[in-house]
Amino acid sequence: MTKSGQLWGGRFTEKPNETFAEFNDSFRFDRRLFTADVRASIAHANGLAKAGVLSADESTAINGGLAKMLDEALSNTAYFDNSDAEDVHSFIEGELIADIGDAGRKLHTGRSRNDQVATAFRLWLRDETDAISAFVRGVQAALVNLASRHADAVLPGYTHLQRAQPVMFAHWCLAYFEMLKRDRERLADARGRINVMPLGSGALAGTGFPVDRQAVAEELGFDSISGNSLDAVSDRDFAVEFASACSLIMVHLSRLAEDLIIYCSTEFGFVTLSDAVSSGSSLMPQKKNPDALELLRGKAGRVFGHNISLLVMIKGLPLAYNKDMQEDKEAVFDTVDTVRISLRVAAIVLENATLNEERTSEAATKGYLNATELADYLVKKGLPFRTAHEIVGNAVLYAIGEGVELHELRLEQLQEFSPAIDSDVANALTLEAALAAKDVPGGTSPSRVNEALAAAKEYLNDQNKKFSHE
Ligand code: ARG
Repeated sequence: MTKSGQLWGGRFTEKPNETFAEFNDSFRFDRRLFTADVRASIAHANGLAKAGVLSADESTAINGGLAKMLDEALSNTAYFDNSDAEDVHSFIEGELIADIGDAGRKLHTGRSRNDQVATAFRLWLRDETDAISAFVRGVQAALVNLASRHADAVLPGYTHLQRAQPVMFAHWCLAYFEMLKRDRERLADARGRINVMPLGSGALAGTGFPVDRQAVAEELGFDSISGNSLDAVSDRDFAVEFASACSLIMVHLSRLAEDLIIYCSTEFGFVTLSDAVSSGSSLMPQKKNPDALELLRGKAGRVFGHNISLLVMIKGLPLAYNKDMQEDKEAVFDTVDTVRISLRVAAIVLENATLNEERTSEAATKGYLNATELADYLVKKGLPFRTAHEIVGNAVLYAIGEGVELHELRLEQLQEFSPAIDSDVANALTLEAALAAKDVPGGTSPSRVNEALAAAKEYLNDQNKKFSHE
């Protein structure tokens, strides 16, 4: 017995080896392209009808049969089960022929699975790209909410994970907001190259029937049509670009996760996560672990792996289509699944995070985070910065020896290091002054951060209006 929807039995006299068939078949995963492939098939049939290749009756029968399949797939959860189809394309054709007979045997006129799969995959990925972009926006909204819940809070800022200078906590939140903004730009940019229609390229040389490709593309919502059939059936750049944009999303989520993991530790104690997003230990009763964050960090590697495997899959392939390319599906599917759930979890964790403001302000005033303020103070008194830097270095060394902070030294003690230091130094060394001084665009002064927060809220509103699919 031949497999259901067998597309290529004619020149074969032997059945495929079972193990080879299992290796070759992709239906168990590419069934995810079912809706996209049916939609593309309807548009293809319409194109054939307009070109006079299909009669009105045939076109009606094909359209009806395909629409019925879409309904059935939606209503019957077992619709795909027990099929031994090779792939989603043969499944659809086989079902159509079983349902409507001979007219169904005309659907594949002027098309190949090579342009068909590229078309369905791009259609599917276009919609997923939009969905992922909306989920990225969800994380941005959660960051803005978190920042708004702690609008006046400060955080010790770090370099080399050593206390450096104080920043507004909202500034930290908005740093991740910026990364995610770029991620959405990258997705939007990739979308432009995803949303190009290869259909009409045939197996590799172009279709032999006078289909109006532009009209078919418009019906499917593609922005444009591919310009070279050899390239169109073998181009998977779009999948690499998508996976690469997703890799950067995961880089950003992973860094966010790492910051929060550190901040949740008892040693830092900056952030508390609610029980809803924490796990316990099977052995140690006191433990409350940030598993959600660790998984966000851990899952990044999976997505990078898919990105790399797509690159390796394509490199060195001769033109045009090669079966290697079937490997693109699982890489992209798992990328989509991983990034989607990661973004959702990241938003949930942020909604369940609380900053311990007292602890962060205390940390922001201990550890000489105002040393740069003292140097800047001396510069404003006329000293060259390099000289000021050295003077303050000496003062810090002295303060460490005394076991006090710079602002805890008496004026006379400070003046030992520079006669330029005056009684107004006390004001310059406060946390408030350190923050307020960073009054440049992109800086962490409270007024700049408030502006940035307002701009972020505006961005979210605009984006909300732009995309209805959320
Ligand atoms: N399942 C195949 C894929 O994903 C469809 C294209 C197969 N074309 C072919 N000539 N074998 O790439």
